[in-house]
Amino acid sequence: MLGLSHTLDRGYFLRKQRMQLKAINTSYLEWTGDTLALGLFEGETDITGDLVKLDEQCAGSLRELIAEEEFEGKSGSSAVTRVGGNRSIRKLILVGLGKAEDLNLNAIRNGAAAIARLAKKGKSKGLAIALPAEEDLAATTQAIAEGLLLALHVDNRFKSDPEDKGAKLETVDLLGCGGQDAAIAKGEAIASGVILARELVAAPANAVTPIALAETAQQLASDYGLTLEILEKADCEKLGMGAYLGVAMASDLPPKFIHLTYKPPGTPRRKLAIVGKGLTFDSGGLNLKVSGSGIETMKVDMGGAGATLGAAKAIAQLKPDVEVHFISAATENMISGHAMHPGDILTASNGKTIEVNNTDAEGRLTLADALVFAEKLEVDAIVDLATLTGACVVALGNSIAGLWSPDETLAAQLKTAAESAGEKVWQMPLEEPYFEGMKSPIADMKNTGPRAGGSITAALFLKQFIEKTAWAHFDIAGTVWASKTDGVNNEGATGFPVRTLVNWVLH
Ligand code: BES
Ligand code: MN
Ligand code: ZN
Repeated sequence: MLGLSHTLDRGYFLRKQRMQLKAINTSYLEWTGDTLALGLFEGETDITGDLVKLDEQCAGSLRELIAEEEFEGKSGSSAVTRVGGNRSIRKLILVGLGKAEDLNLNAIRNGAAAIARLAKKGKSKGLAIALPAEEDLAATTQAIAEGLLLALHVDNRFKSDPEDKGAKLETVDLLGCGGQDAAIAKGEAIASGVILARELVAAPANAVTPIALAETAQQLASDYGLTLEILEKADCEKLGMGAYLGVAMASDLPPKFIHLTYKPPGTPRRKLAIVGKGLTFDSGGLNLKVSGSGIETMKVDMGGAGATLGAAKAIAQLKPDVEVHFISAATENMISGHAMHPGDILTASNGKTIEVNNTDAEGRLTLADALVFAEKLEVDAIVDLATLTGACVVALGNSIAGLWSPDETLAAQLKTAAESAGEKVWQMPLEEPYFEGMKSPIADMKNTGPRAGGSITAALFLKQFIEKTAWAHFDIAGTVWASKTDGVNNEGATGFPVRTLVNWVLH
């Protein structure tokens, strides 16, 4: 097994980074230092007002840069120049923010991410960022901090020399954000949670095992004073978690049912549960994933658990007046002489029986018992996150997660939370008649239906394990991994949907 020391060293990135973010009110005309980055709106790249003065200070470099690069301020565009001579700044970065009327937190977050990558490439040690504020200055400052930290996150843990050889940004001044230190701290807390989720997802299955997930939860509990309960196999047997344990049977590693709790001082305003699918590897079981099915990518199948622990890390630092339970029924889906057979009938902890017509639909089996457990905690709402189906990836692609909920209020809360987090979700129907396809002649239900509507029947299956609590399900199979750098995501694990979860808990 790969050494756990560096894989479990959460905060690995932030410690190495040692970058200081400062919110100050200095204007870009007064600021002196290495690199100045400006965000400009589309159609507003004429040199007028303060830009005339800046252009003079840079010996005409600004005007030249805009003309030579035909920079129009379009979203996603950028231009960089060296400022010659002995001027007050060494480099100038421009990023396009799109149309002024479309400005939102996501444009700001992505603009900050683009600036961070350019500053790093330009070997800047000191950077100042002047981005226009959205209505809310605190939210703007927070988004800039998130964009910077998430874009600069590099994961070299598994290289023989894990040192990031690139130049390191030492200080970043957020101009026009004076007094927003709390917003910076909030952005840093959220980014640390996203980064934990990314690093858990990116780590291979021989590093992030069910035991390693439990150890990560233990570390969070001791770092932040959270309560941790780990149910071992025998504890789960006592609770009758036959669906979860059926999946765990073939693994040589012990299953770990993780229940981490954040309790605020005093009476909580509400009680919530976040449940993450925690398959540290999904081979498919005896319905083994064939080559071409992406079996070699199935370390990501604990993306729900990774985001759950990432959200716990952020929430533990932000200390809302809300009680939050973080739950994952962690295991591997393997093959061996102990494996459940296709056709086996499992009994979940609510007494319902399931005919396992496909051992590769294992996530829903583990979630069944995790949802029953969550509901017994008498929370106000339960949200689960799961890399549940390839069908969801076919439907929505890799940048949008599916959202299902029978509770429109909860669905609306989550959509709002996702919108301001800059994480894309699309609500999908819980089409009850499709559950017909899950009927079993011998048990209460099968675990898979026909190919058509596969992400919907998966959601309907989960719904069988919720009795009365408001519940929503995210299918994040497509969004946990980015195949290329985009916005705040670098190629690799994304940490989706930690930011949405934090917004939802805090709202
Ligand atoms: N872990 C997979 C789903 C998945 C696919 C995650 C792609 C990440 C990327 C899940 O356990 C699975 O195997 N689902 C099956 C369900 C089928 C057997 C009904 C699928 O989607 O093919
Ligand atoms: Mn599977
Ligand atoms: Zn799976």
